[in-house]
Amino acid sequence: MKNIHTKLLKKAMKEGYAVPAFNFPSLEILLAIIETIKETKSPAILQVSESAIKYFTPCIIKGIVSSIHEQKLPVSIHLDHGHSYESIKLAINLGFDSVMIDGSLLSFKENVKLTKKCANLAHKKRVHIEAEIGALKGDDDNPNASDVDRFTNPLEAKKFVELTNVDSLAIAIGTNHGAYKFKGDGKIRKDILKKIEKYIPNIPLVLHGASLIEPEIVTELNSLGGKINNAKGNDGLLNGIYKTHICKINMDSDLRLAYTLGIRKSLHENPENFDPRVYGKIGLQQVKETAKSRIIKICHSNNKVN
Ligand code: G3H
Ligand code: 13P
Ligand code: ZN
Repeated sequence: MKNIHTKLLKKAMKEGYAVPAFNFPSLEILLAIIETIKETKSPAILQVSESAIKYFTPCIIKGIVSSIHEQKLPVSIHLDHGHSYESIKLAINLGFDSVMIDGSLLSFKENVKLTKKCANLAHKKRVHIEAEIGALKGDDDNPNASDVDRFTNPLEAKKFVELTNVDSLAIAIGTNHGAYKFKGDGKIRKDILKKIEKYIPNIPLVLHGASLIEPEIVTELNSLGGKINNAKGNDGLLNGIYKTHICKINMDSDLRLAYTLGIRKSLHENPENFDPRVYGKIGLQQVKETAKSRIIKICHSNNKVN
């Protein structure tokens, strides 16, 4: 049987939409994503970073993975930004459907070597593997790279896929990680994307750093005591991106902001409450709103579950 992650991406590629890939740094965020995909009839990718595995502990993550698999949801569970062979091995042992090996800050040769080794292991276990070529700023910051070096080189991308046999490829076309993506105006390099699509037409592409960081949410957060200054994201930059070969769109910061806003609102309005389930629920509702809007407006993945 085909791997669920591969299936989700291939269907998105064929039908012209993108699968939202949401990280869940808290249980409420996970619950919110699950409720939202049920309500919108959207597939999704549930992403766990190395630091999230450490935070929840591998044992709890293993339980979450098996409970999600039992529910037979249209989702796959994916390791986000694995940095070593050991990380990939751990995620596979925990039951993940897909893993990302991120060697984007290594030299081309070293990236190929590490990715190939991880791809061999993943394929042996029928697990999907994503890798990255080019580098994003933010969490991936590489102070030694110029802006030109950071973007994916389309010919290198083709060579990289041929040499490593990866199933999907994360590319750098102008987005960055986190809530402070751009100093001036951001720009998405659709020209680079087009060349990559031409050189590797059958490989589903992945867009990291896709949070919008909506100014209205940041302003509201700050009006309730937050200090999130100079935040800037992809608001207005990703319209239409779902029509391209980008089949997986990664978003984490937007859900973190939404969750924090819900909690700030709830504690502000009910200062006497100290039951985490009461303010957690308001955080969850706020995350649902954001997740729903990304599904409908950015990914166009609503009603794509048969
Ligand atoms: O791209 C990185 C993700 O947003 C994960 O971040 O390592 O803080 O969980 P994290
Ligand atoms: P954001 O920081 O834009 O939410 O991107 C998340 C991401 O790329 C996770 O891999
Ligand atoms: Zn990322």
